[in-house]
Amino acid sequence: MTSSIDGSAGPVLGMIADWDGEAVVSHHDRDTGAWMFIGIHSTRLGPACGGTRMRVYPTPADAVHDVLRLAEGMTLKCAAAGLPTGGGKAVLAVPELPAGPARRGLLLRYGRLIETMHGSYRTGPDMNTDAADMDVLGEVTRCVFGRSPGNGGSGSSAPDTAVGVWHGIRASCAHAFGTSDLAGRTVLVQGCGGVGGVLTELLVRDGAKVLVADVDPARVAELERRHGVVPVGPADVLHTDCDVYAPCATGSVLSAATIPALRCRVVAGAANNQLAEPADADRLRAAGVLYAPDFVINSGGALHLIGTEMCGWDAPTLAARVAGIEQTLGEIYRHADEQGITTEAAAEAIARARLGDATT
Ligand code: NAI
Ligand code: PHE
Repeated sequence: MTSSIDGSAGPVLGMIADWDGEAVVSHHDRDTGAWMFIGIHSTRLGPACGGTRMRVYPTPADAVHDVLRLAEGMTLKCAAAGLPTGGGKAVLAVPELPAGPARRGLLLRYGRLIETMHGSYRTGPDMNTDAADMDVLGEVTRCVFGRSPGNGGSGSSAPDTAVGVWHGIRASCAHAFGTSDLAGRTVLVQGCGGVGGVLTELLVRDGAKVLVADVDPARVAELERRHGVVPVGPADVLHTDCDVYAPCATGSVLSAATIPALRCRVVAGAANNQLAEPADADRLRAAGVLYAPDFVINSGGALHLIGTEMCGWDAPTLAARVAGIEQTLGEIYRHADEQGITTEAAAEAIARARLGDATT
C-alpha cells in the first residue's frame, strides 16, 4: 500500500489535538493524489456550513491548518450573522488544479464523502470552486449550497458578498471619518474577482476614487476599461496611500510584517482569515487602523446561500439582512471603543454570546 503521508503527520495530529472543534474528516483520493479534509468546528447552532476550497498546498499539514482556521471562522460568521447554522469548511488539497473528467471524478468522490456525514456538514463554493462544481456535487449529495439557478441553487454568492462589504466600508468610514458618504474617499481593492469586481462598481457609483490590484493583469485592465479605476501593482498594495484598504483576494494579509507598512486608516474587505495570527488585531489597534472583522463584513455570501436555500428568504429579506452588516459593524466599533478592546474581540463577543459562550 502506498502512502503520501509525509513527515508533517506529527504536526497535523498536534493541530487537531489543540483545536476546539468537533471533528476532522480526512480522505486520500488515490486517483488524483488529492487530500480531502473536512473540519466540523461547531454544530451547536445547526449543521456545520462552509465552503470547499480547492488549492495546491505546500504540505498536507498546511491544508489542515487552513481548514481548521477557516472552519472556526465559519462558526463565528454564522453565529454573528444570526444564521441557524454552525461552522465547518473543507479543503481539497490537490497536486494541481484539475480540469475536465479528473475534476468531475474528484468532485463526485468528494460529494459521496459529504453524503456519508448525514447532513452534519453542508458545503458551498469557496476559493477555486464555483456553481458548476456545486452542480457536480449536487449529483451525489443534497448537502450543497450555491448550485447554478438552472439546477435549483441560488448561484454565485459573490455579488451579495460585495454588497455586504460595501455596507461594511460605509460603516467603517462613518466611524473613522464621521461620514458614511464615500464620495471622494480613496479605496484600494485588492483582488478583482467575483467580489472585488462588483465592489469596485459600487464604489465608483458612489464617487469614490478606486485603486485596484490583481495578480491577473487582464482583470485589472477590464476594470480600468469599464470604470476608469487606477491600477496598482500587486506588490505595491500595502504601502499605497488610501483611506480604505479592501483585501478581496487571499488571507493572512495582515501580519507583524505587513501592518507597519500600511498607509490606510481602515481595513475593510472580503477575504477570509485576514489576520495571520490573533495578535494582529492588537497590532492594528495600536497602529490606529480600524479593522472590520472579516467574518462579519464578508457574511453577505453566507446570508445569500444559507438564507435563500435553507431559510427560504425572499429577495427583500436577503437584501435587508445584507444591509444589516452596516449596523452590526457600527455596533462592534462602538463596543470596541467603549470597552477598550479590539474590533475583532468585540465581534467575537457577539458571536460567542449567540453560541452561549461555548466553543463547540
Ligand atoms: P475570486 O477567485 O473570484 O477572486 C480573487 C481574485 O484575487 C482573483 O482575481 C485573483 O487573481 C486575485 N488574487 C489572488 N492573489 C492575489 C494577490 N496576491 N494580489 C492581488 N490579487 C490576487 O474570489 P472571490 O469570490 O472574489 O473572493 C475574494 C475573497 O473573498 C476570497 O478570499 C474569498 O475566500 C472571500 N470570500 C468570498 C465570498 C464569496 O461569496 N465569493 C464570501 C466570503 C469570503
Ligand atoms: N465560502 C463562502 C464564505 O466563506 C461562502 C459560503 C458560505 C459557502 C456558507 C458555504 C456556506 O462565506
